[in-house]
Amino acid sequence: MKRKGQGIRFQLTAGIVIMTIAGIGLIGLMSIKIVERSALQWKISQAEDTVGFVRASMRLSSEGGQPWGARLSGVLKNEARIEDFRLTAPDGRQLAASGTMPTDAGKLIYGAVGIEAYMYGGGLLTGIGESMRVSALVPDAGRLEFILSLAEVNEDMASVRNFLALYALIDSVIIIAFGVYFLSRSIIEPLKKLEEAAKKIAGGKLYDRADVAVHNEVGSLAASFNSMAGRLEDEIKSLERVNLELTTAQDELLRNSTLAAVGRLAAGIAHEIGNPLGALRGYIDILSREGLDPAEEKDMVARAGREADRIDSIVRDFLEVARPAKRAVVPVDVNALLNETLTGLCVRSDFSGVSTVLDLGLKVPAVMADEGKLRQVFSNLFINAAQAMEAVEEKTITISTLAEARPAPLKAGRRKGDAPAAKETFERDFVFVSFRDTGVGIHADDSARIFDPFFTTKEVGKGTGLGLFVSQSIIKAYGGEITFRNVEGGSEFIVMLPAGKEAV
Ligand SMILES: Nc1ncnc2c1ncn2[C@@H]1O[C@H](COP(=O)(O)OP(=O)(O)O)[C@@H](O)[C@H]1O
Ligand SMILES: [Mg+2]
Repeated sequence: MKRKGQGIRFQLTAGIVIMTIAGIGLIGLMSIKIVERSALQWKISQAEDTVGFVRASMRLSSEGGQPWGARLSGVLKNEARIEDFRLTAPDGRQLAASGTMPTDAGKLIYGAVGIEAYMYGGGLLTGIGESMRVSALVPDAGRLEFILSLAEVNEDMASVRNFLALYALIDSVIIIAFGVYFLSRSIIEPLKKLEEAAKKIAGGKLYDRADVAVHNEVGSLAASFNSMAGRLEDEIKSLERVNLELTTAQDELLRNSTLAAVGRLAAGIAHEIGNPLGALRGYIDILSREGLDPAEEKDMVARAGREADRIDSIVRDFLEVARPAKRAVVPVDVNALLNETLTGLCVRSDFSGVSTVLDLGLKVPAVMADEGKLRQVFSNLFINAAQAMEAVEEKTITISTLAEARPAPLKAGRRKGDAPAAKETFERDFVFVSFRDTGVGIHADDSARIFDPFFTTKEVGKGTGLGLFVSQSIIKAYGGEITFRNVEGGSEFIVMLPAGKEAV
């Protein structure tokens, strides 16, 4: 991140430096050109003066009868210190000459009536040339040409250039320093503060803000950023508050529902045991009376015994769930057990008119369980199915079994993606037993409660509401599960059990 800040500073500074140097450089070049022009102008006016002087003095001296050459050199050398000159008559004859005259014409830089100036050397970048040729008409004589040195002007220009360079350097330094300072203050520093604040907020310091006090786009960006951070902080705080409320409510709910379940269980037990206990009390009262004949007495004792048995079985069922008795698990052939259970149940009155369809899988492996308990589960499911079909005409129970490979629940300490320790811990076979009936089905309101203890929709004496509760506890103890679903024209209960290692 720091590198990015330096990047912006570097880029903006580079921009300022380039623009300043380009601007100052152009202005400097322009100034040099203007000074050069005026220096040349001055030299040309000097030449004009010289020509004027020559014209006047030639007229005067022509009256004295001196030869052309001597007169000219006298005037030029004395007055303007010019060595090289030439006077040509209109017919081309050379009347007078001194020194050497350049053969090429040079570049025309000035032209007026009767006088022209040509420059040798020089240009846009090289500046003023080395010398200048002035060509002027002298009345009654011809054309006068002379060479004017520009060395003096060039010397002056050199010092002007040095001065301008120094001036440009100082100017550039000042402009760049001020530019960088203002840019820093108005853009770079505020941006850095904004970046720091954003980093702190991203790191969890939600209360942090960008302290930026500039009145430009960066300032308003920082203001928007701060208000966004404020809203974010508020939102996150309120989310945290809601989350806390939610967890508290959830805890409360869990406590309440646990309490409610315990209460329901206790009430159920009290109710279930209360009935036979009341009956028992009655029989004991009758038995304690005098004058009962032995047959009556025997009947009362038998009845009292049955009530005691009922209490015993209720308590035993509960004990089974609360503290299952450790019984040896053995490989059980599910198909055979289903057949056997069904045969035992057929004689019951609930099963009159019920037809059963067996669709048993061929290669269903054995499951490891206690046979008695598994029979209890199967009977519960058969009886429930038969009772659900009491009021319907078409009474069919379809029982099917099959084995299927399913991933086993992951063991503690192992996570998804770890290499499987052995094949069977990663994937194992499960045996599915499905009981499908054509009964009344399960009402949507009841579906969440049918596995609850004492939940029953049946009349007193017919159902205790313990069947599914006990069955589920047994199956879960073997590592399986009972699930159910409403199917068309009835319901289906599926017992899933892990397959044992031994084949049947
Ligand atoms: N096959 C089924 N079809 C429709 N409803 C069922 C079936 N099995 C169970 N139920 C519902 O689940 C309730 C609880 O069943 P269960 O625990 O066996 O107790 P009980 O049979 O004593 O009522 C039943 O009262 C009934 O409403
Ligand atoms: Mg039942």
